[in-house]
Amino acid sequence: MPDVFSRSPDLPVSSMTMGNHLKTAIEVAREAGGLLLQHFRQPLEITYKRRSDLVTEADRRSETLIVERLRSHFPDHAIVAEEGGGQETGSDYCWYVDPLDGTTNFAHGFPVFSVTLGVAYRGEVVAGVVYDPTRDELFTAERGAGAFLNSQRLRVSNNGDLAECLVATGFPPFATNHDLNVEFYFRFTQLTHGIRRAGSAALDLCSVAAGRFDGFWELKLNPWDKAAGTLLVAEAGGLVTGMTGKPFNLLDDDILASNGLVHDQMLRVFSEILEQRGGSGVGR
Ligand code: IPD
Ligand code: CA
Ligand code: CA
Repeated sequence: MPDVFSRSPDLPVSSMTMGNHLKTAIEVAREAGGLLLQHFRQPLEITYKRRSDLVTEADRRSETLIVERLRSHFPDHAIVAEEGGGQETGSDYCWYVDPLDGTTNFAHGFPVFSVTLGVAYRGEVVAGVVYDPTRDELFTAERGAGAFLNSQRLRVSNNGDLAECLVATGFPPFATNHDLNVEFYFRFTQLTHGIRRAGSAALDLCSVAAGRFDGFWELKLNPWDKAAGTLLVAEAGGLVTGMTGKPFNLLDDDILASNGLVHDQMLRVFSEILEQRGGSGVGR
């Protein structure tokens, strides 16, 4: 008789009750992460979607692999994948796939990048994975079942003083709202222990979930960048909203994720700067 309590060392603690979506997402993210490592620091063909918006063979191969696997496991599900390889099926389930989050880092040999997959049911993310192959860190979450790093349960930080925070942000690879975010960046540099701009939004969100960062914001993030990571933050006890405090919506551009304790302090910084600029809002 099988030992019902045994589990693969690769799977998080919650795997005893883990659903098929998360199991598949983990297998696929690990496989795609392995593929990325094979290409890392090897000669690469790089093309440009726009100026400063790179795409490499590794992005495309990783996406092809992920989409093939998802199609074979869940043929009816819709898939939105960054490089365009998805499918619209009219299903209530939709996978958001970033086959390589941190392409610019990857192309420069800077080892901060990830694979991320999140599945939403009627617009609400129910399971997600972010895999960092260079550190073999697997971040997973299922709605209502907690967030994990490998087999360790995650909890956001308990820092309630912005002055003692480490926060993070990102900039889209094309010039939109850069000057506004540079103002936010400047102000948070003065108000906190520091800011990190590491170049993989999915990993930034995991760092909030893991208590490594106290907060993260970005003005223009696509749903595939944030589907899994926002579920991780929520399941680790954090808070996710828009940058004006509006309820989080996966399809909105702007996002603030924090440990919850410094959320209002961060929102106030954005609103003060936006007021000084004549209340122009955070939109493009
Ligand atoms: C980018 C990264 C970056 C964020 C950008 C994203 P990509 O994703 O997540 O950290 O600041 O907005 O576009 O292009 O490397 O998949
Ligand atoms: Ca991305
Ligand atoms: Ca990408």
